[in-house]
Amino acid sequence: MKYDSKRCKLLKADKLTTDVYDFTLDCPELAAKAVPGQFAQIRLPGHTLRRPISICGIDRERGTLRFVFQIRGQGTAELAEFQQGQELEILAPLGNGFPIDPDKRTLLVGGGIGVPPLLGCASVLGENAVAVLGFRSKSAVILEQDFEKTGAKTLIATDDGSYGFHGLVTAFAEKEEFEAVFACGPAPMLKAVRVLAEQRNVPCFLSLEERMACGIGACLGCATPLLDENGNQYFGHVCKDGPVFDSRRVVL
Ligand SMILES: Cc1cc2nc3c(=O)[nH]c(=O)nc-3n(C[C@H](O)[C@H](O)[C@H](O)COP(=O)(O)OP(=O)(O)OC[C@H]3O[C@@H](n4cnc5c(N)ncnc54)[C@H](O)[C@@H]3O)c2cc1C
Ligand code: FES
Repeated sequence: MKYDSKRCKLLKADKLTTDVYDFTLDCPELAAKAVPGQFAQIRLPGHTLRRPISICGIDRERGTLRFVFQIRGQGTAELAEFQQGQELEILAPLGNGFPIDPDKRTLLVGGGIGVPPLLGCASVLGENAVAVLGFRSKSAVILEQDFEKTGAKTLIATDDGSYGFHGLVTAFAEKEEFEAVFACGPAPMLKAVRVLAEQRNVPCFLSLEERMACGIGACLGCATPLLDENGNQYFGHVCKDGPVFDSRRVVL
């Protein structure tokens, strides 16, 4: 089986902003199998459904996985209460990751809490990555230094102009040269990224978010419309067929 359920010790629990947390878990077996763009289903005591969170960092030498998440509702609020030394039960690695070619200059476009899954891509691509990361304002900026440490050209945009470039990430990205595009973030941003990739005639892969239950393709909870090679619409699973899809196959 590709994925496993493990109880993993929380080695590091940091708070990055008022509502965004950064957890590092000790899970050598899962880290050995994970690739950037995959996700984990995290079990929380008292909740039947696990919460899907993207894998933000993979350190095979140390045997750790990193997760960066924002408080959105009850589950993520309870997750944020976990302390260093406690254990979390996670099912991982799930889904398909980004098709990284380290020799291709790749544009990484992230919006808000869509930024964390792209950090793993930057770690593999190094100087061949251009990361354009968009946030509401300066106080919401996360992981800028982590991207810089990978060697990626790292550009920040904010909606209100309080930090970095004032405006949309896609307007910023237009100035860059690239041979492939990976993106994760809100649907309007993904649409604009897809247009940019079409204009440049380069491959584009988007990570989608959908409400999930099982996370392994067994419940239809994450059904999403997709297009086959002939443009015919059918329903697939974000958890099993994605979360990373060729932009030509998704209906946004
Ligand atoms: C593949 C994938 C990767 C994700 N990666 C991240 C990440 O790296 N960081 C991060 O902060 N968030 C991420 N999310 C979103 C995160 O899963 C939700 O914010 C979280 O499940 C909300 O749970 P809650 O109990 O706080 O909210 P509630 O609204 O109380 O949740 C109720 C139920 O709805 C589900 N749910 C609610 N919102 C979402 C959502 N947006 N996506 C999927 N299920 C949802 C919950 O899992 C739960 O079963 C990801 C979602 C998906 C599908
Ligand atoms: S969450 Fe159950 S099929 Fe995807």
